[in-house]
Amino acid sequence: MLMAPTPMSALILSCFLISLSDFRIPSGQAPGQGGVTPMPPVASSPAGNPSTPEKVALGRKLFFDPRLSGDNRMSCATCHVPDQAFTDGAPRALGARGKQLPRNTLSLLNAGFRETYFWDGRATSLEEQALHPIQSPDEMNQDLKALESELSAVPEYATQFRSVFGTAVTRDAISKAIAAFERTLVSRDSPFDRFLAGDKSAISEEARQGWEVFQAAGCIRCHHGPTLSDGKFYRLRPGAYDRGRGAVTGRPDDWYAFRTPSLRDVARTAPYMHDGSLETLEQVVVFYSRSAPAQLSPGLPLAIEPLLGRSYSEIGPLVAFLESLSGAPVK
Ligand code: HEC
Ligand code: HEC
Repeated sequence: MLMAPTPMSALILSCFLISLSDFRIPSGQAPGQGGVTPMPPVASSPAGNPSTPEKVALGRKLFFDPRLSGDNRMSCATCHVPDQAFTDGAPRALGARGKQLPRNTLSLLNAGFRETYFWDGRATSLEEQALHPIQSPDEMNQDLKALESELSAVPEYATQFRSVFGTAVTRDAISKAIAAFERTLVSRDSPFDRFLAGDKSAISEEARQGWEVFQAAGCIRCHHGPTLSDGKFYRLRPGAYDRGRGAVTGRPDDWYAFRTPSLRDVARTAPYMHDGSLETLEQVVVFYSRSAPAQLSPGLPLAIEPLLGRSYSEIGPLVAFLESLSGAPVK
């Protein structure tokens, strides 16, 4: 609707302009940095672990096998459920003996495209990562030596390891097979991908507006590239308990910083944030518009500024955009 330029509409217009300028990108960062790009169809394998269909099949079997845990009750898929984009739907997962873990379960979709693993980036390859949950007393609580003998005693496994790796069952081969399987978990065919490829009707008008806001608000500064993550670590909310990246590097600058999560299939990975404290995408967007500098710990600046002045009418479009990033379920 076109309005005559009355003093009232001029006032509304100037408020709108002020709110746009409040929506600023914190200094020192280039906006956009490449935008959002399509998902490559496959994740490449490292030289030391070339993928074969047989290795992937073995990795898949191990991933779903509860024998990998100390009490034979928990598999990787207990927490990384295929129907829930390989997360578990809980704020924080329950590990061995029902103990609650300190962090929200990460989705394994597109794990093959990351450079570091875990919310704090403490592992640097999928091969290295796989042995962490198996051994952790709070997760699968399994002794690796015991696991090697337990699986060697299963004739089918003994044959499969020999044909895929030419060895007996070893921890090294277990981790390589699981990593090869994880590299096949790639998000695909989301409405937003079809939109990027030129089909302008693939997403709703509301989602398209949300995509504009996502860029204008600087979300894209950190959430860009094929997985909508720059792989870097930021402090978004001060927390007194989990030092995040800071506990890995020992640098006070990294305290309470966590890796930018991928936003692919994000509508299926609730609840959100490293501690699972936000239940819905709407709550996440509201968090971004409200997170006030007043919450700052002394001397520890946050990596974001609140989206001051944005009206509630922009929350719906941002949520619709985030929902358009979910594609066909991967199993
Ligand atoms: C008890 C629940 C639980 C089990 C069992 C479990 N995980 Fe996880 N997984 C998690 C949680 C929680 C995180 C995030 C932990 C963190 O960041 O500190 C995670 C993180 C990961 C990541 C990192 C993803 C990323 O984006 O950085 C990978 C890969 C992974 N798990 C694979 C596995 C594999 C393989 C197994 C089986 C060998 C397994 N997990 C078993 C809960 C679990
Ligand atoms: C400075 C970098 C940065 C900017 C800018 C940014 N994010 Fe994030 N985003 C992150 C990090 C880091 C986390 C995880 C924070 C944590 O758990 O402590 C996150 C978490 C999220 C999550 C939760 C995902 C999950 O799986 O838990 C969503 C959704 C999200 N951001 C959307 C947005 C939107 C929408 C905007 C713009 C309004 C935005 N982000 C701006 C870095 C950023």
